[in-house]
Amino acid sequence: MQEQISALKEDITARIDAASDLAALEDIRVAALGKKGSVSELMKGLGRMSPEERKEMGPALNSLKNDVADAITARKDVLEEAALDARLKSEKVDITLPVLDHAAGSVHPISQVMDEIAEIFASLGFDVAEGPDIESDFHNFTALNIPPEHPARQDHDTFYLKPDANGDRKVLRTHTSPVQIRTMLSKEPPIRIIAPGRTYRSDSDATHTPMFHQVEGLVIDRDTHLGHLKGTLEAFLKAFFEVDAVTLRLRPSYFPFTEPSMEVDVQCSFEGGTVKIGDGNDWLEILGSGMVNPKVLEACNLDPNVYQGFAFGCGIDRLAMLKYGMNDLRAFFDADLRWLKHYGFRALDLPTIAGGLSR
Ligand code: PHE
Repeated sequence: MQEQISALKEDITARIDAASDLAALEDIRVAALGKKGSVSELMKGLGRMSPEERKEMGPALNSLKNDVADAITARKDVLEEAALDARLKSEKVDITLPVLDHAAGSVHPISQVMDEIAEIFASLGFDVAEGPDIESDFHNFTALNIPPEHPARQDHDTFYLKPDANGDRKVLRTHTSPVQIRTMLSKEPPIRIIAPGRTYRSDSDATHTPMFHQVEGLVIDRDTHLGHLKGTLEAFLKAFFEVDAVTLRLRPSYFPFTEPSMEVDVQCSFEGGTVKIGDGNDWLEILGSGMVNPKVLEACNLDPNVYQGFAFGCGIDRLAMLKYGMNDLRAFFDADLRWLKHYGFRALDLPTIAGGLSR
């Protein structure tokens, strides 16, 4: 009997050592220690033995069982480590290699332009503020000096949501100006923010889409004046269009939330079929702006005798089209991979003032 045990142990151990993978090892385990395994069968024989025999064979069979189990565990550790090694080797990634161009996504021109704008204004000391796309009537209109029945409401082709129990209708914000209100209600001056984001109007042609993008600017302090507005816009547009100088024309205009209000044109040339910003014989309307209306300051609990400032609002899509030469706005939102590949930006090239915004 003892001999049978040693022979069995030798046989099983040899097979364990030869097992080349975890599946083979599992087969060996079942064949030895499973319900009908060779070791288990031997152990079943214990019940038929005389007490003396059992006293001798019990411990022998037990240690056989334990030795086999230990050998399997040891082999399993070795095989698992080898499997992990092989996997690590096959899944190795060299993070110092350049990103594969065909595998990389691209940054949409709108995101690129927003990043460029944030970078420029950050260098001028502006924070980036945000507000919700679904806006209350108060923030989008009333607090901006556009009370109900004000004709300016008609200019906005507003998307209204279903009225709530009180009859109040939320709107998809028609401009980024409600972020002015949110900022003044939540922060003490001095305030210096830009607010880029999505805006919505029911309008659609080659230069209008129902969803578009604006960037708002707001500066409030004790003695902020029109000169600051002009200087800020000049610094911004010069940096954005990456030219040495820009000439601006401030045209009197009307917005309920600014007084006085002006539309800003930038000098440009359309010679040779492309726009060149900086000089030339033409003017391109680029944004709306003005000094924040005292009524708006009051709606935000700021004393107009103490505080004053300027605001501007600018279409981002328009800026992107001008800078990067697309002529149909609708293509921005078609998700056409060929367009995205052509006009998109490399994800790892972050725009910085020092490194060049668009290079
Ligand atoms: N909100 C205005 C628009 O959408 C732009 C604007 C913003 C004008 C701030 C003046 C001041 O047309």
